[in-house]
Amino acid sequence: MRQVRDDIYSVGAIDWDLDLFDRLIPLPDGTSYNSYLIKGSEKIALLDTVDPRKTDTLVNNLVAAGVDRIDYVIAHHAEQDHSGSLPDILLLYPDAKVVTNEKCKSMLIDLLGIEDEKFITVEDREVLELGDKTLEFIYTPWVHWPETMCSYMKEEKVLFTCDFFGSHLATSDLFLQNERDIYEPAKRYFAEIMMPFRNVIRKNLVKLEELDIEVIAPSHGPVYDNPQFIVDCYKDWAGDEVKNEVLLGYISMHGSTEKMAEYLTDALIERGVGVKVFELGDVDIGKIAIALVDAATIILASPTVLVGAHPMVASVAVLANALRPKAKFATFVGSYGWGSKMVEQLGGLLGNFKGEIIAPVMVKGQASDEDFVRLDELADSIFASHKTAGLV
Ligand code: FEO
Repeated sequence: MRQVRDDIYSVGAIDWDLDLFDRLIPLPDGTSYNSYLIKGSEKIALLDTVDPRKTDTLVNNLVAAGVDRIDYVIAHHAEQDHSGSLPDILLLYPDAKVVTNEKCKSMLIDLLGIEDEKFITVEDREVLELGDKTLEFIYTPWVHWPETMCSYMKEEKVLFTCDFFGSHLATSDLFLQNERDIYEPAKRYFAEIMMPFRNVIRKNLVKLEELDIEVIAPSHGPVYDNPQFIVDCYKDWAGDEVKNEVLLGYISMHGSTEKMAEYLTDALIERGVGVKVFELGDVDIGKIAIALVDAATIILASPTVLVGAHPMVASVAVLANALRPKAKFATFVGSYGWGSKMVEQLGGLLGNFKGEIIAPVMVKGQASDEDFVRLDELADSIFASHKTAGLV
């Protein structure tokens, strides 16, 4: 148990070893499930629990700290990495009530079978009294799921945000020590969890602006005692501005597509367009998600496999479609032996994409001199599109 501020303690668990979050995004730096204990002069509250794999850690932390009573367990979010230990905590502290909103209550009943009478539901901006401390609940929907909310303690100027402002970083530091350490873990987290809901997140950022916040205490990663950095990152990432960057993901079976991907990369660099290239055979898709936060243009390059795109390329198209990045342009490059429906297939998989599809380049067999000219023309088109969009 470590002290965040007066009467506020961190009692959660560090997960150094988890390899994939949601069995999807690699975790090169691990993650954490932060849970906070507030000892008010009259009531004791536990803010969120931990992933069920780490229940023992949470329970041991509470027992070691001599916590023999919990009055309220605040549930900011129903997802199991924060709620999964709730049934065990309610067994250990049978008088505790679960304080949450109506939507989260319904989810906790569905997901964990918590009994109806265990709940106290709160409205947006409702205040819970703990004696000399208070918690104001602030609904912040879609900072991951529709029921997500934050709570604000005005006495210590601490905002408890659960997933909001979280990062996939396992560290023994309670507070962030160096902003350089958090940028990529927080962006990796944002890209997977928050990016699809950028528009709502912008509204939530505005809603929080009226609060006097000295500390942001999320439920993943370190606590921010200088929170402006992560707030500014979120304003950038959730905004509509893209950068003069291309994400180029490719795979090649017999070298034709690889040659085109390399040629196109060089052609874009020569024109002053930034490129992030990913060979998709063995890729960290978290890196792709991160690149999607900023890229103005998405290029997927693939050989034709049984009429369509290579399945690894198709899966990245599915991911990009689900994450709803703010890219303005997309195109496809590929090769085929005798026929292909790849362009139509990938276009269909990017059904959420509302930007412009720039004319793709498909070649039969190995690219000819004429085909490389077409790739130069594609690079010209991308540069012109970025210029028109004010990016160069
Ligand atoms: Fe960290 Fe949406 O759970």
